[in-house]
Amino acid sequence: MPWQTLIDVTRDAPVPLTAQIQGTIRQEIAEGTLRPGVRLPSSRQLAEDLRVSRSVVVEAYGQLIAEGYLEALRGSGTWISQHLPPSAVPTLLDDGVVPDVRWDLRPGTIDGTAFPQREWLAAYQQALTGAGGRELGYPPLSGATALRTELAGYLGRTRGVRTTPRQIMVTSGFAQVLSLLGAALPRLGIDALGMEDPCHHRQRQFVAEAGLRVRSVPVDEDGIDVDALARTGARAVLVTPAHQFPTGATLSTERRAALVRWAEDVDGFIVEDDYDGELWFDETPRPLALQRLCPDRVLYAGTASKSLSPALRLAWIAVPPRLTSLLEQTRARRDLGSEILTQLAFTELLASGGFDRHLRRRRARLRARRLLLERAVRSHLPDARILGAAAGLHAYVELPRHVDEPRLVAAALHRSVLVRGGAHFRHGTRPAPPALVIGCAAVPGAALPEAVAAIGRARADLPSGLPTTAPDPRRSPCPN
Ligand SMILES: Cc1ncc(COP(=O)(O)O)c(C=O)c1O
Repeated sequence: MPWQTLIDVTRDAPVPLTAQIQGTIRQEIAEGTLRPGVRLPSSRQLAEDLRVSRSVVVEAYGQLIAEGYLEALRGSGTWISQHLPPSAVPTLLDDGVVPDVRWDLRPGTIDGTAFPQREWLAAYQQALTGAGGRELGYPPLSGATALRTELAGYLGRTRGVRTTPRQIMVTSGFAQVLSLLGAALPRLGIDALGMEDPCHHRQRQFVAEAGLRVRSVPVDEDGIDVDALARTGARAVLVTPAHQFPTGATLSTERRAALVRWAEDVDGFIVEDDYDGELWFDETPRPLALQRLCPDRVLYAGTASKSLSPALRLAWIAVPPRLTSLLEQTRARRDLGSEILTQLAFTELLASGGFDRHLRRRRARLRARRLLLERAVRSHLPDARILGAAAGLHAYVELPRHVDEPRLVAAALHRSVLVRGGAHFRHGTRPAPPALVIGCAAVPGAALPEAVAAIGRARADLPSGLPTTAPDPRRSPCPN
């Protein structure tokens, strides 16, 4: 295993190297990448791979052994413990092994009843009825022309995106965009991608798997730290400017301008992931797409996963004109296009105004849920605060610094609430206060307060006062 890609260290980070190694190993255990029984490299080998002194690795291993994450047998090496501490176990559950809980508050979950079944059925029927030999053959690689035409109009009208049908490619989810970029960017001499920290943990995995080096860049209440991005040396970055995932921060006007300047300075590109841009119900005006500030350097991506359903595997990317052929060529070497009837049905939904009507209903429903959540947090977690804009399907709930996040997540699970802690999304190089990322979409509205009340009771189960586990670098005090 290439350990230096799994366990990476950043020399100019404020967190000591030992703590970075510990943080990454804990995180990889929590995400299930490092499973019980896996043998770690010797301290000498890892020190050589990471180009750090051996004492750094010895200290990191020693601390993790003391915490119960690792086991060592004299003469036979160091292993991931068969008996992990309880705080590490709940997040071991990946999407394939979801425990049977009463309330599932993971941010990726959705409310199946919000899908516009009747309108979709009508649109799909229309699409199928109108599909002839041409439509039912292999689809255009970039997607149905009719959909790209509708999308160009829709994105301009609702998000201010400046694009044309020719610049748009329809993909099987945003996940596919990441693998396409992993192959396309190196052909522009770009082999590293700046990624927000925290971010969607699976995306970091996809990007690394696609062969790009991940450069983690901290995020604060104004969005990505552009100065820190510039220090990474990367020439491309993936951002969620409207509603940072998962903190909810909106990229400020100043940072938007700075980010565009950065892209121009490094002759680089910005990938804008507008994953929930349609679902804005904050009192502040909805920010338009970053792409409109610099259509020549911003690749704008949207998805139907939040607005309709992730099961459709339907997303789109609008790229600068000079990248269209590169993207098409990259795709041509990988697959034969995306499923067409879903695309044609979505075209119908857009053209008939059904999608706009659906979004209006959905926003109203989500706004009501958000209010319920805010009220429940005030009652049951009174010293917590919800960060970021009221938008999308999740909220980032920051907790007081002394709360032991992993223990709270474990205690919540014990009370039948599956919720992710903030550490689940962090890469580990920067400390941050404890937090919960609460998905508000999947549980029925009335159940949301009950679920938060259960978290409040789980919190009360914890020993009060100072943290009861050894300090985690991602949970110690920090200025943001
Ligand atoms: C930050 C972020 N971007 C994009 C997506 C959508 O990904 P996909 O279109 O592959 O479902 C999600 C979905 O959960 C997300 O959380």
